[in-house]
Amino acid sequence: MEMEAPEGTVRNILEQKSLKWVFVGGKGGVGKTTCSSILAILLAQVRQSVLVISTDPAHNLSDAFQQRFTKIPTLVNGFTNLFAMEVDPKIENDELPNDEGIDSFLSELTNAIPGVDEAMSFAEMLKLVQTMDYSVIVFDTAPTGHTLRLLQFPSTLEKGLEKFMALKNKFGGLLSQATRIFGLGDEFSEDAMLGKLEGMKDVIEQVNRQFKDPDLTTFVCVCIPEFLSLYETERLVQELTKFEIDAHNIIINQVIYDEEAVESKLLKARMRMQQKYIDQFNMLYDDFHITKLPLLPEEVCGVQALRKFSQHFLSPYKPPLIRGTVEELRQRISTLKVQLEEAKLELDRLQKGKGKA
Ligand SMILES: Nc1ncnc2c1ncn2[C@@H]1O[C@H](COP(=O)(O)OP(=O)(O)OP(=O)(O)O)[C@@H](O)[C@H]1O
Ligand SMILES: [Mg+2]
Repeated sequence: MEMEAPEGTVRNILEQKSLKWVFVGGKGGVGKTTCSSILAILLAQVRQSVLVISTDPAHNLSDAFQQRFTKIPTLVNGFTNLFAMEVDPKIENDELPNDEGIDSFLSELTNAIPGVDEAMSFAEMLKLVQTMDYSVIVFDTAPTGHTLRLLQFPSTLEKGLEKFMALKNKFGGLLSQATRIFGLGDEFSEDAMLGKLEGMKDVIEQVNRQFKDPDLTTFVCVCIPEFLSLYETERLVQELTKFEIDAHNIIINQVIYDEEAVESKLLKARMRMQQKYIDQFNMLYDDFHITKLPLLPEEVCGVQALRKFSQHFLSPYKPPLIRGTVEELRQRISTLKVQLEEAKLELDRLQKGKGKA
């Protein structure tokens, strides 16, 4: 017996009540922010409280919801249990538990291990969010590479600590001598710094255990039906497998459907191209829930538009016309008639114009 493909909706995410972290990621501009906003709206209907976080330096939750957000969770207008916040990994770093010793040490460390500063602020943010007690947290992540780097954080920090220990052994008591000579307090001592780093590592390890638990965490891959996006999605899925992070949903956005019996050669060619890649997605990810979203003529902006678009997350999209039916043929004939009339009028106009000239 042939296995039936998993349902092409995101209902499975809404039904998985144990979920605590939902990551939404993919290539730039494919619809990550739109999809995370809508997932958050849908989750708010079935879970007690939801927080959607953008970790993209180019914040765009504010654009999607048409409401200003900051690094403090803010209630989204029109909701009682949906909150949003935007954090900038780069700027946040200035607000780490602060003292000069740690700061300069961190910048040393940053030079030694690229990405550690972002990872640190990510850790801080996670620590904060964990104490806030939301039922589920949706991450609108920055384009692919960035997110995966953050998820890789524990090993990054591990390397940092190793380097630190190596330095410590190499230079012996030099650092503690220096702190004494310059009359710095105990909190600047290398033990204090190491303590803070270890503390950070604990948080991150705890969070990482959660990220690797498929009951608690899942990653939703957003893409579009094009070669580069298919390729990038495959890379993303492989990386996630490597990091042991669960992924079983793919959202294919911006699908062109044969609305109103499209006559445009360009659109028809695009549709054929898209179908080729959709078939490949179906083949490669036959054990994933693959949700297809139609390309709209306009942007998906504001709560109302997001709510309206959310219907396509719950039931597979059906264009109003089905190919090959009598209804479709009628529609095509009437479209052709209108086009013929328009062409005749245009021809008349041209001929009259010539007559005058
Ligand atoms: N199916 C769609 N039909 C029409 N417009 C869409 C659709 N999906 C998203 N958009 C619009 O496309 C733009 C980009 O979408 P979005 O911001 O969600 O992408 P993103 O992946 O978050 O981009 P970035 O990588 O820049 O953060 C937005 O203006 C959004 O309203
Ligand atoms: Mg975005």
